[in-house]
Amino acid sequence: MKVKVAETAGFCFGVKRAVDKVYQLIEEGTHPIYTLGPIIHNEEVVTDLAAKGVQVIEEKDLASLTEGTVVIRSHGVGKAIYQELKENHLNYVDVTCPFVLKIHRIVEKQSHAGKHVVIFGDPDHPEVKGICGWCQGSYTVLKGRKDTEQFTPPNGKDICVVSQTTFNYNKFKELVEILCKKRYDNSVLNMGDILNTICNATEERQKEAQNIAGEVDTMLVIGGRHSSNTQKLFEICKEECGNTYYIQTPVDLDSEMFHHSSYVGITAGASTPKKIIEEVQEHVRIEF
Ligand code: F3S
Repeated sequence: MKVKVAETAGFCFGVKRAVDKVYQLIEEGTHPIYTLGPIIHNEEVVTDLAAKGVQVIEEKDLASLTEGTVVIRSHGVGKAIYQELKENHLNYVDVTCPFVLKIHRIVEKQSHAGKHVVIFGDPDHPEVKGICGWCQGSYTVLKGRKDTEQFTPPNGKDICVVSQTTFNYNKFKELVEILCKKRYDNSVLNMGDILNTICNATEERQKEAQNIAGEVDTMLVIGGRHSSNTQKLFEICKEECGNTYYIQTPVDLDSEMFHHSSYVGITAGASTPKKIIEEVQEHVRIEF
């Protein structure tokens, strides 16, 4: 059986870097290790880390922590958390994705320059909360069309726009257009202050999956049952290849999937560990 595995399958660069770092700390004998929130939305990985002694804590737990190493995950955190870690003399390892760190630097600088920061994104998402925590002045999180239409900057301040890294690019363009059409009394939005900070890892993964699905007889999409990005990948692949299957582990493989197939494609959602992708690949090559 010929098998093609997508190069972009599984963890993006930022998530891989974060997960690898935690395993490295374990190997080095660091103890205890705490992660500020789950390092990744993948039950298998979090359970494995828990079995190795890694505990998931929340920001509010930092106040009572007296020892150990705290890992800041790829989503990043606000400036106040770094201050709290330092004040409490806690060791920390920062694996904030560099693309997110870039946004922190932008909003901090623009706030210092007196700009009102607009963040396109989900106000409840940890990454967005972290970005807000680097704004030194006023800021607004805009989620969609309606709140963007209603938005007015405070005190006639000039505006700077950034985006959550996983924001949809078409939506970003649409919302920027709305802001550009609006006229504010004393505020200006210069084109140079509209910064597209979207990370293209998701888009690249989807494009590659679509191309592979167009070439193969059977397409396998690996990911957690509740992973929305895996669901999206499955839909994209299904449109290209009717013989597309959504699986979680090699256990879900069935010979029925490979009837009349000589070429199988494999991709995986952003929170699927490499180990599972390799196991599925090996299983397909050997068994079918
Ligand atoms: Fe991943 Fe960093 Fe992009 S965590 S999705 S590479 S912003």
